[in-house]
Amino acid sequence: MFDFFRQHRLLLAPMAGVSDEAFRALCREQGADLAFTEMVSAKGLSYANEKTRHLLRLAPGEDQVAVQLFGHEPDTMAAQAAWIEEAMGESLAYLDINMGCPARKIVSKGDGSALMKGPELAAAIVRAVRAAVEHPVTVKFRRGWAEGDETCVDFARRMEDAGACAVAVHGRYAEQLHRGSADWGAIARVKAAVGVPVIGNGDVRTGADAVAITRRTGCDAVMIARGAEGNPWVFAQAKAALAGEPEPAPPSVEARLAMARRHARLLAEREGKNIVRMRKHAMWYMAGLPGAATARARINACVSVEDFDAVFDELLACAQAHAE
Ligand SMILES: Cc1cc2nc3c(=O)[nH]c(=O)nc-3n(C[C@H](O)[C@H](O)[C@H](O)COP(=O)(O)O)c2cc1C
Repeated sequence: MFDFFRQHRLLLAPMAGVSDEAFRALCREQGADLAFTEMVSAKGLSYANEKTRHLLRLAPGEDQVAVQLFGHEPDTMAAQAAWIEEAMGESLAYLDINMGCPARKIVSKGDGSALMKGPELAAAIVRAVRAAVEHPVTVKFRRGWAEGDETCVDFARRMEDAGACAVAVHGRYAEQLHRGSADWGAIARVKAAVGVPVIGNGDVRTGADAVAITRRTGCDAVMIARGAEGNPWVFAQAKAALAGEPEPAPPSVEARLAMARRHARLLAEREGKNIVRMRKHAMWYMAGLPGAATARARINACVSVEDFDAVFDELLACAQAHAE
């Protein structure tokens, strides 16, 4: 997969509740080479759950997407991976297996980062999924489970032996959730230990960070999650920085609000009139703008595109008044 990642160096991370088609479309437009779906439950798919299947829909104009599956039963994972491959065909770039999510409701079922505690089962899942599909299979995991107990190097080797075509490493322990900072040294140690491509992840928020993580770890691709929230421009900045070109200037207030409006419309195309999901994105787009603090309560009552537009109009007026 080295060739693949030479063409796809900047990835939008899987983010449950965030990396839907609307957000993916905006990040791709700004320069993300590939985006991940939100994590998709293998169990949910096996029940033909419509809500779960909707997570696999592509954005208009989205050529390919990477799909992330979670679960812990090798047979179920393999069967659903095969179903995804059949259903998505060419639009599937590759399948990733979530072994990094630390959320209580996920790990309590043995899914996500709980698999780092049982590398034999994790390897069995990779083997089963690999045997069931033609597409490349990758694994995303963390530095380790328990704080201070770095297991990612051994884990990465085991995933490679089981057939993983690449690994994505978030340099925090599962127990850390998002606390502290990501240790890029852990990613470098994984890179030195495996032959497959390594995707570096954790705390990349600027173009300079994308260059720094690449230099520090030797990673083949960079994955960005929170740095893209309310900030799809991070991909344009990272793309320029990685190419050794000057980074585009940060977006103006007008550009931020215009992006927020488009985001709301894309969500409405997908979800219909009720786009409460937009609330968190709106908060991110307007963070730090004049008037943002008072607009928060109003955003929390918004439901439709019109509701959001009314708040964005006010923020724009407030910013213009502020600039005078
Ligand atoms: C809101 C949110 C949802 C996430 N959902 C997923 C997910 O579905 N699958 C996954 O592997 N990681 C998920 N993550 C973790 C990110 O993909 C990423 O590994 C982590 O946030 C570190 O990268 P960052 O510092 O760029 O945010 C999520 C993170 C956030 C903030």
